[in-house]
Amino acid sequence: MRPDGCLHTEDLAPLLSSRTRLVACTLTSNALGSIVDVRAAADLAHAAGAEIFLDSVHFGPHGPIDVQAFDCDYLVCSGYKIFAPHMGFMWGRYDLLKQLPTFREDFIPDEPPGKIEAGTFIYENVAGMDAAVNYLAQVGRSLAGMSGTPDPKSLREDTRYAMNAIQVYEQKLSLELARVLRDCGAQVYGIMDDARVAERVPTFCFNLPGIQPQAVTEAAARADVGIRDGHMYAPRLMKRLNLPVETGAVRVSLVHYNTMAEIHRLGDVLGALRKRG
Ligand SMILES: Cc1ncc(COP(=O)(O)O)c(C=O)c1O
Repeated sequence: MRPDGCLHTEDLAPLLSSRTRLVACTLTSNALGSIVDVRAAADLAHAAGAEIFLDSVHFGPHGPIDVQAFDCDYLVCSGYKIFAPHMGFMWGRYDLLKQLPTFREDFIPDEPPGKIEAGTFIYENVAGMDAAVNYLAQVGRSLAGMSGTPDPKSLREDTRYAMNAIQVYEQKLSLELARVLRDCGAQVYGIMDDARVAERVPTFCFNLPGIQPQAVTEAAARADVGIRDGHMYAPRLMKRLNLPVETGAVRVSLVHYNTMAEIHRLGDVLGALRKRG
């Protein structure tokens, strides 16, 4: 990671060699919100004869997951960040999944997808995932001015429409939250250059000088604003930022149903804390 809070593919190139089998990376940082240029990473990995595995969990609610555009070999996601229950899913190139050795009983055929999803599904999670996809498709349909419930034949297009529109709206949220954080004198870790807003999702990690992260989240909670503090499951990042792992930083994670008014409510909380602190 460079000081801008981003992974740069120029730094990946020297790490690859003909001995590299797999490059695994996230699409988006769950702590800083930076989006990785995974297509460039895939091009480098493939040129070195390696495969690429992507974790799209944090990107999931913020934009279209397009395995063809990413040119990845494997991609995993988790439903709970895309408005579904906590059920993971995986996509992989069929020929690679066919060759992939998996641990399974002999009676389970060595064929994807069954070889990696043996056993009984948790049907309530599957129903929840289906509902979440239909919800997103419905968002897409209503934004496109179409009436009626989602049509299974246009699910892909409707969902893509929604995710593209969500990306546009969320960039406005990012710009406004960045402005509010700047005005409050917060130290933000990650992209703060408005011109680079397309390189991030509206997940912001910051600290208010001299104020404990937990005190910030507690004050926000009293104003009915739910944010969190801590190491965000990224203790090495906290160390890199010279922050104590035990207390870490504050994180605000916005999605498409958040509003400018909510950002301003948070701004009032932060402003009052700064005045008092
Ligand atoms: C990038 C990323 N990967 C993985 C996870 C964890 O997902 P799960 O709990 O489904 O393993 C998260 C959750 O915060 C995440 O943001």
